[in-house]
Amino acid sequence: MKKKLLSFLLATTMVATLATGCGEAATADTGADEPAATTETTEETTTASGDQTVGIAMPTQSLERWNRDGSYLKEQFESKGYAVELTYSDNKIDQQVKDIEGLIADDVDLLVIAAIDGESLSQVLADAKDANIPVISYDRLIMNTDAVSYYVSFDNYTVGKLQGEFVEKQLDLANAGDKTYNIEFTAGDPADNNAGFFFNGAYDVLKKYIDAGTLVVQSGQTDFDKVATPQWATDKALNRMQNILASNYSDGKTKLDVALCSNDSTALGVTQAIESDYWGDVKDVIITGQDGDVANLANLVDGKQTMTVYKAVANEAVATLDLGIALLNGETPDEGLISASGWNFDCAYDTESYDNNVAKIPSYLLVPTVVTKDNLEKELVDTGYYTLDANGYPQATN
Ligand code: GAL
Repeated sequence: MKKKLLSFLLATTMVATLATGCGEAATADTGADEPAATTETTEETTTASGDQTVGIAMPTQSLERWNRDGSYLKEQFESKGYAVELTYSDNKIDQQVKDIEGLIADDVDLLVIAAIDGESLSQVLADAKDANIPVISYDRLIMNTDAVSYYVSFDNYTVGKLQGEFVEKQLDLANAGDKTYNIEFTAGDPADNNAGFFFNGAYDVLKKYIDAGTLVVQSGQTDFDKVATPQWATDKALNRMQNILASNYSDGKTKLDVALCSNDSTALGVTQAIESDYWGDVKDVIITGQDGDVANLANLVDGKQTMTVYKAVANEAVATLDLGIALLNGETPDEGLISASGWNFDCAYDTESYDNNVAKIPSYLLVPTVVTKDNLEKELVDTGYYTLDANGYPQATN
């Protein structure tokens, strides 16, 4: 009883505070910049949840997964009666700052943000904090701010570890004896805090084989900074791999055995480079990825990409919804949220791993899955995330 009354009072106080705080922000920021043409903004008004609005800021529609994240999140919050404002910022940092300013000015009650550049939101999030708007850092950790309340993501280190272990197993590296294999790394955007976790997860598994000479990096590029791909851009990954192939694999006999790519957008570029600029067959190169983007799943079916690490963003949206509702109710969720929510997917509560340089951010971390040609149907189609088209290629259902 007591507990209920307290949360009711807290909720009431919070709503009152939010109303005041947001009102001030709205006055200060009214007339802020028009959204750019590339920015998608959707809004709904009347709600069954006390007219509360959730502001969702996604990075870009040009990387496939964020389209799925945006629509799942919108669908989840709207299904519980919240209004949703959803913005995409075309991978432009300044645009995302403006979009978040706009959401604050629009009096949103909760912010869910997947940052383009984890280090560029400190100022705008200070404004969110002043307006008492709780912030969930979605998928990517937002750095250098005390305004982030929680982080929802997948276990990012494990994503990379699964990629590394996949290569280890495919090549049976532990029993390689005198055999050697050539590998090249392609990592993600240095502005994305996840990118280092992915790279380290994979590298930590493979390092002992590189040290032992079983795995050889002909390009010599093994530092994250050297192998990183700004904006996770397919064309940048493609160009870099073309250069690597030209400089190290152009003699018609030096074989590329593995292209360890952190995600699917980079894997796509690397695969294209290998198809066009490499003497051997792309199907003989182990190529890793992450996300289950439609083009990459088609490559999986065709044998051009070997695996992808799939992250069920539908579940990430569900976790974000339940966390969001708790925050909107003025609660301070902890590990108990997981059992209380009755999720049908695994999730760990972690208060140690994600430090944003101001504090360790309490994190809800979901579990990623390895998808290959062999289990694609079971993991992605039977689960309802994708359907197969007439040609047997997966199409996303959301
Ligand atoms: C990461 C995300 C990955 C991948 C990448 C490119 O932050 O965790 O799933 O999509 O961004 O957008």
